[in-house]
Amino acid sequence: MSVRHATLLLAAATLCVVAAIMGLLTRSTNATPDSEESVQRYDKHLAAAYVEAQCWQCHTVSTLEADLVRDFGPQAAGARAAGPDLAGIGGLYTDGWHAAHLFNPQSVVAGSQMPAQRQLFVLDGQATTPNARGERRPALKFSAQLVIEFMQSLTMPGRFRAPWPRGPKELPQSGSVREGRELYQRHCIGCHGQAADGRGEAALFFTKLPANLASSKLIWRSVRVPLASYDDIYTTITNGLPGSGMPAFTWLSDGQRASLVAYIASLNREVFDAYEPRFDQSVYETPPVFDAALVARGQELFSSETYKCTSCHGAQGRGDGEQRAELIRKHGVIVRDLGAERLRRGDAQGVFASIALGLGEAMPGHLKDDDSNKQDIWALAAYSRSLNRFER
Ligand code: HEC
Ligand code: HEC
Ligand code: HEC
Repeated sequence: MSVRHATLLLAAATLCVVAAIMGLLTRSTNATPDSEESVQRYDKHLAAAYVEAQCWQCHTVSTLEADLVRDFGPQAAGARAAGPDLAGIGGLYTDGWHAAHLFNPQSVVAGSQMPAQRQLFVLDGQATTPNARGERRPALKFSAQLVIEFMQSLTMPGRFRAPWPRGPKELPQSGSVREGRELYQRHCIGCHGQAADGRGEAALFFTKLPANLASSKLIWRSVRVPLASYDDIYTTITNGLPGSGMPAFTWLSDGQRASLVAYIASLNREVFDAYEPRFDQSVYETPPVFDAALVARGQELFSSETYKCTSCHGAQGRGDGEQRAELIRKHGVIVRDLGAERLRRGDAQGVFASIALGLGEAMPGHLKDDDSNKQDIWALAAYSRSLNRFER
């Protein structure tokens, strides 16, 4: 049995346990209806679109094999394993990522061997409909939207990720700007673009643009200066940002990832030299246990006058607060539904960092300079995480 299979079996077993516990919870505590969705659902109508599009010629969905074979015959289980197993792909990427991938796989996955699926686009894939920014892009056929919905239904609990922040580790000193530039041209350019401004070919399909790496406004940081540290950039490249379309590059070597960091820093040399963002021990702390009492305290603070998280995230954290429209208009960023989408950095310290330090212009930081409200932030982190169907 391969490692991959063993992992899948383990994941499937975990899923069963989680499902059982979830069932109990729903019955006993009237948990939010979302909690059931963290377990993969099977929808024959969506599966039919996947079968119709013949994705099974190269793919398997190991967790649904029995359902697919029962409803569509033995071939639907997968004819040959030319592409990866799609179990667990749900929520990992945005719908826009899937659209870009179907239109031109190589724009999002360097050197992809998957053929472009132009038959799933209207009018041979000509750019006909405007995206959120008014740029014309190819429109998906209805059946293709169902295929993407099927992909998004293939959920599994969070994949392993390195923690945020990573702790007082040193990046390898070997990072070479030249190697980084070469790696960037190969693996990043399809999304982040030639000028690293976030305007690559695939960006047409993305609602939130891939980050502008040539500006110093990187938002996924764990340091107090308004700039990501080298370690933060390294962790983003390693983990990806699940749910956003930014893939994980775990499979690049440490040295290669360090070179990418060196290259990104070289695009902002002056700013990085001025700030010298370093790992910040005060943000890195052993998290308290996220128990029911802490979650309850967090829930109170969430809608309190002091924190007013509800003004953006809404009363239940669904992203429907009164500032929603303004944030889209001003920053082009959609307020997060904390329940439905994967957290970009879902470990306890990562959620803490997001709430404490904020996420760029669209979400303010809430940790006071003297750290006096640190316990509040932990409670808010515990509550936010408890809402999320992928992290519970
Ligand atoms: C001729 C073989 C082939 C066909 C047909 C095919 N794929 Fe793929 N697919 C691949 C290969 C090879 C990869 C790995 C490279 C990549 O990620 O682009 C892949 C990757 C993927 C991934 C990314 C998986 C991951 O873990 O990141 C998704 C999602 C996907 N395919 C969806 C589809 C869908 C939906 C269809 C049907 C419309 C389809 N594929 C049809 C070969 C194929
Ligand atoms: C498939 C598209 C895609 C590819 C390929 C991709 N990225 Fe990204 N990247 C994104 C998106 C989208 C975001 C913004 C996510 C967010 O903030 O919600 C992002 C964000 C980032 C960030 C975080 C910026 C911040 O604000 O903190 C870094 C750093 C980054 N990418 C580096 C890279 C590097 C280096 C590569 C290549 C090795 C790469 N990306 C490849 C789509 C991509
Ligand atoms: C002014 C609006 C605004 C306020 C106020 C706000 N947020 Fe956010 N929040 C956002 C936006 C926008 C995002 C998505 C940012 C992105 O992906 O670029 C977000 C994302 C998040 C995330 C997801 C982080 C991840 O890793 O994916 C968490 C958790 C969060 N907010 C918690 C909170 C909490 C707790 C509060 C109150 C202390 C709060 N937010 C207040 C706008 C806001």
